[in-house]
Amino acid sequence: MSQTNIRGRGSRITGWATALPDDVVTNHDLAKTMDTDHDWIVERTGIHERRWGKESTHDLSVESGRAAIDRAGLTGDDIDIVVLATTTPDKQCPATASTVQDSLGIAGGAFDVNAACSGFVYGLAVGDGMIATGAENVLVIGTDTLSNITDLEDRGTAILFADGSGSMVLSAQDGPSNIMSWSLGSDGSLERLLYAEHHGGKLQMVGKEVFRAAVGYMVNTSRDAMQKAGVTIDDISLVVPHQANIRIIEAAAKRLNAPMDKVAVCLDRTGNTSSASVPLAFGDAEADGRIQPGELILMTGFGAGMSSASAVVRWDP
Ligand code: UT7
Repeated sequence: MSQTNIRGRGSRITGWATALPDDVVTNHDLAKTMDTDHDWIVERTGIHERRWGKESTHDLSVESGRAAIDRAGLTGDDIDIVVLATTTPDKQCPATASTVQDSLGIAGGAFDVNAACSGFVYGLAVGDGMIATGAENVLVIGTDTLSNITDLEDRGTAILFADGSGSMVLSAQDGPSNIMSWSLGSDGSLERLLYAEHHGGKLQMVGKEVFRAAVGYMVNTSRDAMQKAGVTIDDISLVVPHQANIRIIEAAAKRLNAPMDKVAVCLDRTGNTSSASVPLAFGDAEADGRIQPGELILMTGFGAGMSSASAVVRWDP
């Protein structure tokens, strides 16, 4: 399913921010408790360190959400809806977005979206739709605390998964949306490749098969989103992929004909933070001056489901 925004009322990203737990876990730390080593992890994944914190999904969401609202020059009162993309809500219910809404003093509604590692791009598409139908400001947050659902002694998954958060404020503007297009997908027949059961279940993954499927999903939804936006890869200044594995990112970039100097990468320092990884990688690239007003961004992700999501976004904060 994909869409180009054609209504007269669009959205613009006016605020953005990220948050990470304080506690850094290096590959060398992991090698002390499991049969792995730094060089293997770097060679197979590109990851050097990650954050596993005591901070909850609520805590990280409040930190990045508050900073994004500040940056937009708004207060909680101005936000109509909180959309929190997460696979790791703090409780079965209520939605973690509700407790975030309260902590941020937001008057409007709040709900969670679970599309695994594609969640943030799903959240942006949802937020853009809400702006198109009347909301003034929507806070889209992607937060995951995967250390809570990872077997921290399983070398097949513990080396990858981590905690983090990123937020963006979407604000209404007249005219076309700066979320120029989106392409969202799901193939539930592949559920067995990556899942966690309820009641304390930890992530189970068939790594090689996820790897293979991931590249195809990112490439297909990226091409679809670019086609819907009427642009090609040459028009894109920054590709912001889900931060799962540097080899997946390189393979997808190659098939999209995107040179790696156009690609945002932060997984070396963050690991795979699921819903948080696209806004974390974006925040990192933006802070480094790698995107300028008027330029186009391609965000693309995949994850459990298997879900997939890409969006073309005009950067004009
Ligand atoms: O958001 C989506 C999340 N998931 C993903 O994106 C996962 C995608 N898949 C991957 O990133 C990769 O499949 C992994 C990084 C998980 C694994 O890399 P791989 O190149 O597919 O390695 P492998 O599973 O084929 O394992 C190769 C060898 C095996 O040993 P043998 O059988 O060749 O003797 C593994 O037992 O490496 C061994 N191995 C390890 N060695 C050291 C597996 N994990 C580790 C480890 N440290 N952590």
